[in-house]
Amino acid sequence: MTQAGSDIGRFYLTTPIYYVNARPHLGHAYSTIVCDAIARRKRALGIETWFLTGTDEHGQKIERSAKAAGCTPQEFTDKIAGEFHGLWDRLGISNDDFIRTTEARHVRGSQHLFATLRDRGYIYKGSYTGQYCVSCEEWIDGPPGTVCPIHGIPTETVSEENYFFKLSAFERKLLEFYDANPGFMAPESTRREVISFVRGGLKDLSVSRTSVSWGIPVPGDERHVIYVWLDALANYITALGYGSDDPKDKARFEKFWPADIHLIGKEISRFHCVYWPAFLMAAGIPAPRSVRANGWLLFDQGKMSKSRGNIVRAETVVEVLGVDALRYFLLREIPFGQDGNFSFDALVQRYNGDLANGYGNLVSRVVNMVHKYFLGVVPSAGEETRAEAGLRARAEAAIAAFGPMFDELNFSDALKELWNLVAETDGYLTANAPWKKPQERSDAEHEKLQARVLATAAEAIRIVTASAYPILPEAAAKVWRQLGQCEIAGAAKEGFLKDLKWGGLKAGTRLGEPAPLFPRAEMDAIERMQKLEDENNRSAVESASQGEIVAPSSAPAATSVVPANAGNETNGALTPTSAAPIDPARPVDTAKVHQVPAPLASSRLSAVPSAGPANAPLVPAEAKPGAAAQNEQSAATQTLQAPGSQQISIDDFAKVELRVAQILVAERVPKADKLLRLEVDLGFEKRQILAGIAQYYEPEKLVGRKIIVVANLAPRKMRGLESNGMLLAASLEDGAPVLAGFLEEVPLGARLK
Ligand code: MSP
Repeated sequence: MTQAGSDIGRFYLTTPIYYVNARPHLGHAYSTIVCDAIARRKRALGIETWFLTGTDEHGQKIERSAKAAGCTPQEFTDKIAGEFHGLWDRLGISNDDFIRTTEARHVRGSQHLFATLRDRGYIYKGSYTGQYCVSCEEWIDGPPGTVCPIHGIPTETVSEENYFFKLSAFERKLLEFYDANPGFMAPESTRREVISFVRGGLKDLSVSRTSVSWGIPVPGDERHVIYVWLDALANYITALGYGSDDPKDKARFEKFWPADIHLIGKEISRFHCVYWPAFLMAAGIPAPRSVRANGWLLFDQGKMSKSRGNIVRAETVVEVLGVDALRYFLLREIPFGQDGNFSFDALVQRYNGDLANGYGNLVSRVVNMVHKYFLGVVPSAGEETRAEAGLRARAEAAIAAFGPMFDELNFSDALKELWNLVAETDGYLTANAPWKKPQERSDAEHEKLQARVLATAAEAIRIVTASAYPILPEAAAKVWRQLGQCEIAGAAKEGFLKDLKWGGLKAGTRLGEPAPLFPRAEMDAIERMQKLEDENNRSAVESASQGEIVAPSSAPAATSVVPANAGNETNGALTPTSAAPIDPARPVDTAKVHQVPAPLASSRLSAVPSAGPANAPLVPAEAKPGAAAQNEQSAATQTLQAPGSQQISIDDFAKVELRVAQILVAERVPKADKLLRLEVDLGFEKRQILAGIAQYYEPEKLVGRKIIVVANLAPRKMRGLESNGMLLAASLEDGAPVLAGFLEEVPLGARLK
């Protein structure tokens, strides 16, 4: 991988802006922590740094989530954006700015970008013709006459007027750009995928919608709103001041643009590596210097809880092990760019091994011994023996290796280097045992050895601490004080990493008081974290049932491929009627149109129990307290399960009786605004089922529809009504269910095997 970013005295890096339809979770925290570490290191190298994060607040999905939560989109986005703010504060994120796409500065800047693209002839008005299902109110992929896979009725051919961006004009220019800038995108898998996508041919891209109202109006034509991805990507420049006349904004934009690193999740590389540079080229603005894609954080289902989803909140880890433990784990455990598994077990092991018993223990031993033997004042090391020379050489090698590895975003190996130094220093201490005076050694000789060993070990700690500061800012600040140095944050502002060299800890320095760093995690740490997660999931479900605004936590499903249509429902880009036919072998983003109301790539099939996401309690009436999580997936945990992470036997599967049924009656349940009462026909019998889908489906549109039912589920009571079974549905990122159905005719009662 080539080194990310530039070294020209200023540095601009960004996280993706997070959708506010979901509460922040560990997946979001991951990219933000990575950026924070990079920003801290750049500043500590004396580079003027601007670190931006924010929230992506427009689009139909957010509009729907707000509706489901019973509030206005603005109220909804305010609440969730506040949660992101709160989490970043808690994690000590050092961002310089936080942009919300609903802010006036962003609206103004995005409209300016749109108008510039139109004025420069890159946006034109065209029409899109496609197949439309009136029942779904969605576009369906396919030729005229295509039958809606959900409703089984023929679609209609409908035309919609849209603005299109001339993406097709950028095919060659983009390929030339990638060629001329080999470091523009990484990892290699992303680069290959993006290049092959562009080589496959680019079609013009719809950049407006008339079907969505929660968005930024197209300047001069307010029936349209700007396509969410054009709106979202623009944040990287609008936050700097693009589109503003204020000289301060203009100066900031001039100073920091182009961005050095856009850090993103791998599933959104096409938006950042194809559309974004094309929009910028068209607007006459330089393209970003690099886009770096991180892999997915996967969740160790087995370790957490057998039969529920696995979203973990960053707060849980912070509460039990502290912020630095989380930061260290994520950067050390997961090679950047690859998928990585998260489990409480692995976290606690790393914490105890590397932080409590490793670094923390080393610091405590050395600082305590300097206090004990030298009244807290760093002694003069005296003459270096082979042992000290060896440790110094090791430290110099670590300094030389750490920086370039870190700057290539190879955090894991960089930390490994540093922790080898921790281990060597530990070994050096043990080998020289300054606490043990052999009889044959004179007092004076022993004191000399103690001075040499402790001064050398303390210096090694200083090197580790300074280097690790961007990753362990809290612990490094404590150790810095214990080493008798000034405040580390101030030192970082002065660029203290610029010339980190062996020998900076001067004899005569008075050390600070020893203070615990990483207390060993006991056996119950895992249980405590699991309990916190369970409690949180329960309370999220409960507040949802009481009508509070609760956005389900969500994360993309664990997958190593880049989904064809990742992100938001409104990601689906339309192409104009004249566009070339779709090649089914290629990723289909520009051709795939609103097939389902959210990316199936990030959804999973689940049974819709008697209550839907963000809904009435999921605990069956007869369930024991606390059993909710085991019996049902909570709304907050529905989408993060790593596929295939828990295997079952064919016999296990055979126990579940899945059958085709048809909805005969569908009606709302009085005083339960999330529930529908369904009467379904299984061919051999009729049943009543309660389903938590009222926010997502109009009852009258469900009548006649064929669905899949879990037929052998024990009956249970909800709101005084008995429910006999569950419906199968895909559960999307925002918790919305999409009922499973059939393309072909199937008889009622047929069993699914
Ligand atoms: N709003 C868009 C980004 C627009 S940027 C102009 C979006 N939002 S998101 O909330 O769905 O995702 C934001 C980022 O969080 C993405 O980079 C995504 O990859 C990351 N993650 C969300 N869950 C994740 C994991 N489980 N693991 C790692 N990163 C994940 O896409």
